[in-house]
Amino acid sequence: MIPADLRVHLGETVAAVPPRLFGGFVEHMGRCVYQGIYEPGHPAADAGGFRSDVLALVRELGVTVVRYPGGNFVSGYRWEDGVGPREQRPVRLDAAWHSTETNQVGLHEFADWAAKAGLEVMQAVNLGTRGIEEAGDLLEYSNHPGGTELSDRRRANGAEEPFGITLWCLGNEMDGPWQIGHKNADEYGRLAAETARYMKFLDHRVELVVAGSSNMEMPTFGEWERTVLRHTADQVDHISVHAYYEETDGDVASFLASGVGLDRYLATVAGIIDEVRAELGLSRPIGISVDEWNVWYQTDWNENHKDAVLSGDWPESPRLIEDAYTVTDAVVVGSLLISLLRNSDRVSMANLAQLVNVIAPIRCEPDGPAWRQTTFFPFALTSARARGRVVRTELKTPTAPTARYGEVDLVDSVATIADDGSVSLFVVNRSTADEASVSVELAGDLIVADAQTLTVPPGGDRFTRNTQDAQPVAPVVLDAVAREVADGLTRLRISLPPISWSVLTLRPTTAPQEALRA
Ligand code: AHR
Repeated sequence: MIPADLRVHLGETVAAVPPRLFGGFVEHMGRCVYQGIYEPGHPAADAGGFRSDVLALVRELGVTVVRYPGGNFVSGYRWEDGVGPREQRPVRLDAAWHSTETNQVGLHEFADWAAKAGLEVMQAVNLGTRGIEEAGDLLEYSNHPGGTELSDRRRANGAEEPFGITLWCLGNEMDGPWQIGHKNADEYGRLAAETARYMKFLDHRVELVVAGSSNMEMPTFGEWERTVLRHTADQVDHISVHAYYEETDGDVASFLASGVGLDRYLATVAGIIDEVRAELGLSRPIGISVDEWNVWYQTDWNENHKDAVLSGDWPESPRLIEDAYTVTDAVVVGSLLISLLRNSDRVSMANLAQLVNVIAPIRCEPDGPAWRQTTFFPFALTSARARGRVVRTELKTPTAPTARYGEVDLVDSVATIADDGSVSLFVVNRSTADEASVSVELAGDLIVADAQTLTVPPGGDRFTRNTQDAQPVAPVVLDAVAREVADGLTRLRISLPPISWSVLTLRPTTAPQEALRA
């Protein structure tokens, strides 16, 4: 048994929960768009060809904003290919994913789909093969009301009203040699700064995300951020962080501690932002946009699949990186969400990459079903429950050694309080063997309205997955919660299974002391 003590300071705000923290990502890659969100001819397809069963799961997931259309894809993309009559749209090679792009889904279709899903669009511009002019054209086409060639072309193509896209990414992972049009930090920084300036001249409302490093292990990490920000800090509103985690060589302890890695990554980038702001005497804030994060078995992709895919034929919507997630992966996703919430004083938004089929919480088959992967649940529950403000917590927990991050806490947690006074506690037990017994203390008289945990299901193990035929992994009621109220404090004792992620929602009551659950 792992004993832990958690004190929740409801009056001490860390930050408001950023609504954009629960973003997703739709890239023209593999089967994310085609055979993912879009499959005309599927029994559940709507008049526009979009799958209503997938759309229902996207809504249930609680995604607030979706980055589009890439990813690596955007660095070779001509946005004009995806507008106008569908039968006249060109078919092109997508060199990023060695696929054939039919352009049957483009700007208009995606905007329609996002509106149906109730999502904000986060649009990326191509700073790989293209530049300032094309980015400005796309912005004018999207956001100008009318009376110019580009805005009237949009109207002629069926969208009388502007799309009103506020959030824009200035390219993608430009530090990576795999990126089409890869640049060094000065080259990219200058291009991003001038593109930003032009975009803000065209529409002063835009919010811009400049591309940070592709990951923390890049040899240029740190210097890239510093250089790029020196060029762009007076123009941009956010800098991106991309963070993917996986279990390597059976090192589950390090994998379960991925949130520690993300905390450190965010602290380093926040430090560089502060350093450059101080150097330039800038008072405006720059947020961190974690616009790609997830569990991704990238070593398997790099060692066993990448070369074959990237040298083969040019298939349409091939099956690429369709990782089938385990219980352990879901617990890691839950703990990464804890880290994002904890850092919400610096993280302005985050996008789980990706949304459907490609390293995604939602999977579907052509002509077949759509289903929730294990990772769907911590995301859906966090986006539904994390409301209002993140508040300060103090946690005392035993630690354990890990190869990747040194000594780490075995229990991790974050808490939020909504405007109606309801409190949500998100707690992870990283131990693979032991239950954790967590004592929680917070001011006021609160009852446990709901407690759920995601862990190894009966008869399963930590590798259990959901498939199209069976979905054994789902949250279950967390029964092991004892409660007492004394001296104006609510005290809970919670038992958390090994390898588990849990959420408890407490509501204020005037009712006398009561034990809700034994
Ligand atoms: O999400 C898959 C890929 O990962 C994206 O295209 C790229 O930006 C990142 O390297």
